[in-house]
Amino acid sequence: MFKENTFKDKVALVTGGRSGIGFCIAQNLLQLGAKVIIVSRKEEQLQEAQKELAAFGEVSAVTCDIKDTEQIKAVVEHIKTNYGQLDVLVNNAGGQFPALAEYISDKGWAAVINNNLNGTFYMTRDMANAFFIPQKSGVVVNIIVDLYRGFPGMAHTGAARAGVENMTKSLAQEWSDFNIRLNCVAPGIIDSSGLGTYPKPVQDKLEEAKQAIPMKRFGQAQDISNAVCFLASPLSSYITGTTLYVDGAQHLNFDKMGLPNVLKSFL
Ligand SMILES: NC(=O)c1ccc[n+]([C@@H]2O[C@H](COP(=O)([O-])OP(=O)(O)OC[C@H]3O[C@@H](n4cnc5c(N)ncnc54)[C@H](OP(=O)(O)O)[C@@H]3O)[C@@H](O)[C@H]2O)c1
Repeated sequence: MFKENTFKDKVALVTGGRSGIGFCIAQNLLQLGAKVIIVSRKEEQLQEAQKELAAFGEVSAVTCDIKDTEQIKAVVEHIKTNYGQLDVLVNNAGGQFPALAEYISDKGWAAVINNNLNGTFYMTRDMANAFFIPQKSGVVVNIIVDLYRGFPGMAHTGAARAGVENMTKSLAQEWSDFNIRLNCVAPGIIDSSGLGTYPKPVQDKLEEAKQAIPMKRFGQAQDISNAVCFLASPLSSYITGTTLYVDGAQHLNFDKMGLPNVLKSFL
């Protein structure tokens, strides 16, 4: 199974690697022997994370907004100059806000689609063109959300992530000629930094939400990272174009934590 040298001589890029789930993934890839690049928008926090991660291996950081293709070019140049190759791309960067669909503005809708769908596509296309296609090898793992039954209360991110999931299926077929594998990981509710960004009434309902999950607990960043490391490694060499739910069977549950009802109580 996993060994300290599972990713020896491999180079991995983790978007949103400065916090939460992305930080855990970056740490684990380093512990398994990869050289890691983390990118995100907030320079200071990114540098802090890079310093912390340096305890686990060779890591560098580049400030980059995944929505901006000029900034992505700078990441490509950084990787070409410092590593000369890229083997793994983890598209973890993303974010959303809870909202009832009838109140989502044009701007709010566009922002979530642009960040989660367009940004993920730009990163994937540009890393494939620069590295994976010429190398004839590469692995992409896309973090999406638990969207099996739709995503009431966050229709914008559900739509964006469904787009990512479908893109993953398309590219897994188109790019199999180049020996590129792409898969998604769909986290349930994960007890990580992202959870703290939700409004208080939503936070207040989290304990109740836990009871609606068949396994009656939230996941940890480590649970997601385990799945990502598996899908990024040769252990999954015959798996491509699929989605792995890491959610304590939450996607099989109709309740979906009743988020729309929580939102209706204060919006
Ligand atoms: N926690 C959960 O329950 C949960 C459940 C399902 C899915 N997810 C998804 O899993 C991923 C990680 O979540 P998390 O809980 O670890 O939350 P988080 O700490 O808020 O992580 C989001 C990361 O993405 C980066 N980011 C966001 N937009 C970006 C952009 N345009 N360009 C570059 N970096 C960007 C952020 O850094 P900067 O602010 O510095 O850019 C941050 O490091 C997210 O995509 C999230 O939606 C989380």
